Amino acid sequence: MTDLAFPDGFLWGAATAAHQVEGNNDGSDWWDWERRPGTPCVDRSDLAIDHYRRFPDDIALLASLGLTAYRFSVEWARVEPADGAFDEVQLDHYRAVADAAIATGLIPVVTLYHFSLPRWVAAQGGWLWGGTPGRLARYADRVVRALGDRVRWWCTLNEPGIVAFGGYLGALNFPPGRKDLRSWESATAGLVEGHRQTLRAIHDAAPSARAGQTHQMMEWDSDESGRPFVEWMRRRNEDVFLEASADDDFVGVQTYTRVLVRLNPALSLALRGLLRVPPLLALVIPPVIRVQAQNPAPPIPPGTHRTQMGYEFRPEALAATVRRVAGLLPGKDIIVTEHGVATADDAERVELIDRGLRALHAEIAAGAPVRGYIHWSAFDNFEWALGYRMQFGLIGVDRATQERIVRPSARFLGEIALANRLPAAPA
Ligand code: BGC
Repeated sequence: MTDLAFPDGFLWGAATAAHQVEGNNDGSDWWDWERRPGTPCVDRSDLAIDHYRRFPDDIALLASLGLTAYRFSVEWARVEPADGAFDEVQLDHYRAVADAAIATGLIPVVTLYHFSLPRWVAAQGGWLWGGTPGRLARYADRVVRALGDRVRWWCTLNEPGIVAFGGYLGALNFPPGRKDLRSWESATAGLVEGHRQTLRAIHDAAPSARAGQTHQMMEWDSDESGRPFVEWMRRRNEDVFLEASADDDFVGVQTYTRVLVRLNPALSLALRGLLRVPPLLALVIPPVIRVQAQNPAPPIPPGTHRTQMGYEFRPEALAATVRRVAGLLPGKDIIVTEHGVATADDAERVELIDRGLRALHAEIAAGAPVRGYIHWSAFDNFEWALGYRMQFGLIGVDRATQERIVRPSARFLGEIALANRLPAAPA
């Protein structure tokens, strides 16, 4: 048996997002959402893991593992705290973050919008406001002009499907807490337009930049009973954004699990009927999806188990989505911009990385142009409405002391990165 080698120049990284790690992101819609009376959030982000101040040590720690890339996000609410008012001090801050990465040998991969909006954008309706796409592009222009001499890799929007599904159909307790089909559709259209304008802004400001969206994708598994529903859902939640990636320089793939859809015959028949009558669908689908999404125990196959998130533990789901992207957008570069697991048992994270990378390697061997693997997450952090209980980190954090605790999975991924290969025998 020979080792599984990855292509030369493969990016090996770990990711964070500003609101989840920086702390005190108090000009954003998420900050307000966490504080709303009767908030659906189990925790407030507060100081998070204080990455805003601790970034030099955090980045040095990631580099010491052997990784070659660090994906982080710039916080729009900090850079543009009021409409058209840009804060040069904050731009300097993010320049320093990129420089810290570069100085330690990490390639920065920078996300411009990762779920949190400035309060003033949210006040206008967030993604329902016609001004949001243009404002995002204007902010992107400023950031790329400030950092473009040192950053080549840019993610425009992180998981727009989750933003629309979570906050406008109400499936995930995300702001602004809208819960209807029309809001979902309008937000989707706004996000697509936001991506298009932002992509253009990045290329105008830095013609050699490599830019793309990152996509939340599931491995969908359905029999005949669930197929029409799966197709309907995938079209609206994934494909609409993938189509908008046709001009991107790369596609970011982010996959956490597989979804099994097996419907009883009566429900399947009713859904098929409903899918042909859009007005009825508009009434019925939102509550059904909300109930389904909140269901702590969606079906999983026998012999598998659940993660802290309640998902099926399914490392290979990543290969299924990479294969799908390679088929839909032939020849387009792919970067796994997130893959990870929330677990209290770090051995499970090692297993996820090992099995996920073996499956990914098989896709590369079959011709998928995968250019990198970035793990979610570098550190335990603020998991949105689910707060700090979810442990996604290669590196644990004791939030009382802010001590960082390097887990074996971090060393495991670092060794793979250093060798640019996986040993032939599974971990
Ligand atoms: C998001 C992250 C999130 C992770 C784990 C992705 O949907 O980009 O912000 O923490 O998944 O749920």
